[in-house]
This record gives sequence, structure tokens and C-alpha cells, in this order.
Amino acid sequence: MHHNDFLPINGTDYVEFYVGNAKQAAHYYQTAFGFQPVAYAGLETGLKDRASYVLRQGKITFVLTTALTPDSSIAEHHRTHGDGIKVIALWVDDARKAWKETTSRGAKSYMEPQTLVDEWGEVVTSGIHTYGETVHVFVERKNYFGPFMPGFRKWEPEYRPSDVGLLYVDHIVGNVGWGEMNRWVKFYGEVMGFEQLVSFDDKDISTEYTALMSKVMANENMRIKFPINEPAEGKKKSQIEEYIEFYRGPGAQHVAMATDNIVETITQLRSRGVEFLHVPDTYYDTVLDRVKAIDEDLETLKKLRILVDRDEEGYLLQLFTKPVEDRPTVFFEIIQRKGAKSFGKGNFKALFEAIELEQSHRGTL
Ligand code: FE2
Repeated sequence: MHHNDFLPINGTDYVEFYVGNAKQAAHYYQTAFGFQPVAYAGLETGLKDRASYVLRQGKITFVLTTALTPDSSIAEHHRTHGDGIKVIALWVDDARKAWKETTSRGAKSYMEPQTLVDEWGEVVTSGIHTYGETVHVFVERKNYFGPFMPGFRKWEPEYRPSDVGLLYVDHIVGNVGWGEMNRWVKFYGEVMGFEQLVSFDDKDISTEYTALMSKVMANENMRIKFPINEPAEGKKKSQIEEYIEFYRGPGAQHVAMATDNIVETITQLRSRGVEFLHVPDTYYDTVLDRVKAIDEDLETLKKLRILVDRDEEGYLLQLFTKPVEDRPTVFFEIIQRKGAKSFGKGNFKALFEAIELEQSHRGTL
């Protein structure tokens, strides 16, 4: 696909959330989503302004960070955006080169390359800005053998609920403002060397009331996939507009996490109190006409409200959580791919009708 991949990326390194109370958020991701404790930094490790908890499941690493002072950039971020995703970190072999290649192509620097050292080795990090106040941090960890990064110590609580089978980050979606999608598609193309995967026009994903436009940018080895959404004209406020209003600007909308047994994963998540979007009964009356034969039992999918979609290469099963904070902003997707490489376009209409029902309950449609 690329003749000269100037930004080789091994995968998502971590996703860092700035939250109001990292201690409680960590408990939520352990208890509800089955993330396992990995590392901690805070007052006990010499930090004065923040505390961070690192949790992992499969290859998915979350960092939950909170401010300890009122005047820090973390506190400011949280005051503006509420709980949200600040850092989408990318695992690279050369963080200095990643910074040079991207900033020389027009990326705004967030953090110049720096080397962090402790008894387990060294990590090189650098960073650039992307949409809104979101940033990409490049992480080079080939010479590091510690639990997470210098500055963190092992976090080993006794409380360890089991995982729920989440394996890796499938994609992370960004919401940008009116008319800004192509600007960010261009950014990922020119500054990061990504290519566009698929596109669909707003007719594909509009309902009577709301619509959106979306393009998917992916890196060369396809381990990084970033759909970019912008609101499109509809009769009422779109889900993307609602996000941008409550997030106070562009930001990461959802992290899709893959499983190889969605029935088991969703069963677990529901039993632990994770709330999912309502999918109407009627969805299951017609789904097999659209997707044809599937391995799973339809009654089981209906009971768990799992969505199904098919493309030329296979099918996928997916389900979306409700927002995981009080602002209707960030949520998660659980996805199992059975050949399909798309993102569930056929589910958008059914999904949007479900989302609009939630919006009408909130009085924000
Ligand atoms: Fe998605």
C-alpha cells in the first residue's frame, strides 16, 4: 500500500483518560470491564500534581489520570471536557523519528522527544497534537522491561475481578466539528502517512432525524484505525453534535475493543452492570435477511442485544455501551470480527434509531 512508510506503528500503546477521580474510575474498569491492575504513580511515588492508575486486558492498556491540584492542565482539561480521552498513545520503534517525521509534515508538537529511565530500562516518548485537545504520544519501549513506564511502580491490589475476554483495540473514533472531517482526514494522510479505508455518504447513515459523515483512516499494517466523524444536516441534533456540545469541542468518541467470543464477553459485562444501548426487538425480525447465515444462535444475540453486520469479506458482531460518564460523550464498542473488515455500516440506521430514543429520553434530540 505504501512505498515509503515514514511512520511505522506496532499498535496502540495505551489510551489515557483524564478523569475526576482516578481511584474510583480504576475500580469501575476493574469491576465492570475486567481490566487488571498494572502500575500506579501518585503522591507515594513522588508526584505532587497527579495520580495515575494503569490497567490492562489483553493488549489494551488504559491509564486513568486525575489532577491533585486545581490549577494544572489536567484539572483544566477535566473542567472543560469532563472525563475524556487525552492521549491515544502509539507504540513505535523510534519515537524521535516519529516526532521528526510528523512535525516536519505539519504536526504541532505536544512533547519533544524525551528519555525516561529507571531500573527496568528506558522509554523514549514524544507527542503531537491531533483534533481538539487530544494528543498522540509516541512510545518507544524496546529497551524497557518494567510494568509500564519509568515513574510508575507495580500496582498489586488484592482485588482482582476476572477479565471478560477483551483482546485489543480495534479502532478509536474521533468526533470533529462541522466541515472539519476532511481536514483531519488530510492530517492523518499527510502528517502520519495513513490511507483512507472506506467511505460512505451521509445517506447511508442517516435516519429521519440525524446524520453523520465518516471516513476511516488506517496506518500501513492496519493495526491503527481511526474513523473520523463529523455531524451532517438532519432534522434534529445529531449524536455527533450532542457529543461536541457536551465535550466542548472535538474529541475521541469511542474505543472499540475486540473479543473472540462476544456472547461470553457481553454476558459478563451485562452481569457486572455495564449498560448498553437499547436495540429494538424489531431489529431481530429482519437482521438475518440482511446478513444471511451466521454461526451464532439468533435468540442468544437477541437476548444480549448484539448487533450483526456483513460486508464482502465476512460478518461482524458488535454492541455499544451507553456513555460511561454523565455527559453524553465517551463510550465503548465491543466487536467480534468474523472476516468483516468494515465497521458496521448496516447497523448505523438501527443503531441511530436506538441512540435517538436515548437522546429523546435526555431531552437533547
Ligand atoms: Fe466503532
